Amino acid sequence: MSSSWTSRSPLVLAAVVVAALVTSAVLVARTVGAARDGTARDAGEASMVALRERLRSGQSLDSAGLAELLEDERQQGLRYIALLGQDDRVLASAGTATGMTTAPGTFEMLGERVRMVRRAPVWRGRRPRPDGDTTHPAPPSPATPTHGLDAPLGAVVIEFEPLVANRLRDEVRILVIVIGAASLVVVGFAIWTLRGARQRDKLQAELERGRRLAVLGEMSSVIAHEVKNPLASLKGHAQLLVEALPEPGPQRTKAERVVGEATRLERLTTDLLDFVRSGELRREDTDARALVEDVVAEIGAGRVDVVPVGELQHFSLDASRLRQALVNVIQNAIQASPPDGRVEVEATGARSALVIVVRDRGPGVPPGEEKTIFEPFHTKRNKGIGLGLAIARRMVELHNGTIDAGARAGGGAEFTIVIPRKV
Ligand SMILES: Nc1ncnc2c1ncn2[C@@H]1O[C@H](COP(=O)(O)OP(=O)(O)O)[C@@H](O)[C@H]1O
Ligand SMILES: [Mg+2]
Repeated sequence: MSSSWTSRSPLVLAAVVVAALVTSAVLVARTVGAARDGTARDAGEASMVALRERLRSGQSLDSAGLAELLEDERQQGLRYIALLGQDDRVLASAGTATGMTTAPGTFEMLGERVRMVRRAPVWRGRRPRPDGDTTHPAPPSPATPTHGLDAPLGAVVIEFEPLVANRLRDEVRILVIVIGAASLVVVGFAIWTLRGARQRDKLQAELERGRRLAVLGEMSSVIAHEVKNPLASLKGHAQLLVEALPEPGPQRTKAERVVGEATRLERLTTDLLDFVRSGELRREDTDARALVEDVVAEIGAGRVDVVPVGELQHFSLDASRLRQALVNVIQNAIQASPPDGRVEVEATGARSALVIVVRDRGPGVPPGEEKTIFEPFHTKRNKGIGLGLAIARRMVELHNGTIDAGARAGGGAEFTIVIPRKV
């Protein structure tokens, strides 16, 4: 648990950093979005005020007058201005429009521009003072045409580029791109670190396994050697005892059991010695098909079918060791099969590798145990020792090959041995 936490911590850290970056980007974008709206409205209001000033001062606002106003306000972002009659007809305009809407109250973002439509401004013009001040004339009646136009004013349309707001928007875009790139870099780096850590863990596990096997090997060979001779003597004497006892009888059965157990122990010692045998291979040109058929003839007892698949070429192998691997795997398959179940051995000699697949109709390898069954002393059988597959794997690996357990389609187990031709 703690090691998986440590190995995943770069990813967790990256997720936290990315979440923080994305959250701040979203917050900034939202705040700026609201601010942008506000600044755009302010800019629109400023243009409206300028227009209102002109209307107020009674200046002529035919198209020429509007063009002059547009020129004055161009720096502030104004791009189009139109005065509409009460029937929405354009009475005068300057600049080119991008939008179409003429409904009063419109505030519409159109890409780079904003379109605003207002009812013709109604201002509270000051009453002319009795002293005859005429700088602020009284508002005209809404029904009378004014300012050099040929109909009474209904609405005002302006389009402008909210320059400050657009700059804000562009900066937020850059910020989002930078945050996106930074997030990608952080995630990429985390994945890279994680992969490195995984590889290190795997290597360490392999080293550890090698070390354990070495210690186990040393201990086993000592024990096996020490046990071998006394065991042979014990078995010999027990056999003599069996022969000396009357048949049938309980005494003889007991003596026979001693012989049986001694035989089992003998097998254990040979298995152990096989397992720890030195790693040197004696390769020779081997007829792979003959080897497979030989093993099947020896232990198959009519229960194993060799599936012919094309020509099998000769391979450079240590025949006695590969034979041992095959014996162990095929024996397991026979033991796992129901009494009438047949075991299938398929050997193919592709150019780059010799592939031997052993299939049975037994219960199959329990899911999740496909790797552990190859560990020494892993056994589920009553009289099992648990060294068969460990030895098979060792023999195959000495040939730089691989052995894998899997499920056979339609039930049963499938063991695949691959021995590469290139050493
Ligand atoms: N063909 C198979 N089908 C199902 N389980 C298998 C098969 N071959 C091996 N196993 C499982 O792998 C275990 C280890 O096998 P092995 O190393 O040969 O030891 P042993 O045969 O002494 O039990 C077996 O006890 C069994 O549980
Ligand atoms: Mg076995």
